[in-house]
Amino acid sequence: MIRFILNGQQIEITSSPNQRLIKVLRNELNLCKTKFRCGNGRCGSCTILLNKKPVPACIIPVYTVQDCEITTMEAFVKTPEYEDIKSAFEFTGATPCGFCDSDKYLGTSIFIDTNAYYFSSREDSKKLLQKLEEFYKSTFCKCIEKNTFLKSIIIAAKKRQERLHGK
Ligand code: FES
Repeated sequence: MIRFILNGQQIEITSSPNQRLIKVLRNELNLCKTKFRCGNGRCGSCTILLNKKPVPACIIPVYTVQDCEITTMEAFVKTPEYEDIKSAFEFTGATPCGFCDSDKYLGTSIFIDTNAYYFSSREDSKKLLQKLEEFYKSTFCKCIEKNTFLKSIIIAAKKRQERLHGK
C-alpha cells in the first residue's frame, strides 16, 4: 500500500511499487491532464508538482511518493494562481501547445513563488531578467516565443502580487 496526498486528498493505492507515477495518475486514477509523450523526462508533458516542485511524473517510481504531496493540473486549474497565469497568457497571446501546458503553468507558478523577491524589488531588475532567462532555458518546450513568455510571466506575477497584497 502506498499513501500520499493527491490534489489535497489523502489516498492509498496498491499499484506495483516500481510502476511509473504517470501510469498510475493516468491509467489508475484517471487524471489525464497529465500527458505522456517521451517517457524519459525530456519533454515536460507529464509535469506535476511533487512537494511543490515541478517534476516529470514519467521517471518517478510510485513507491518514492509515499507521504508526499502531489498536485496535478486537475487541481491547479481551480486555483487563483492558475487564473493569474491564464489571463497573463491571454493578454500576451501566448498559447502553450497541448503537450506542455502542465509544464508551462506549474513551472511558471513555482517560478513566481520562488522569485517573489525579484518581482517585488525594483532595484534588482537585471537579476530578475537573468532568472527569467534561466527559467526559459529550463523549460522543455519552446512553443511560446521567448519574449512573449517572459512578458506573460511578469504580468502573471504582477496579477498575483495585486491579488495577494493589493499593489
Ligand atoms: S513524458 Fe515525461 S517528460 Fe516527457
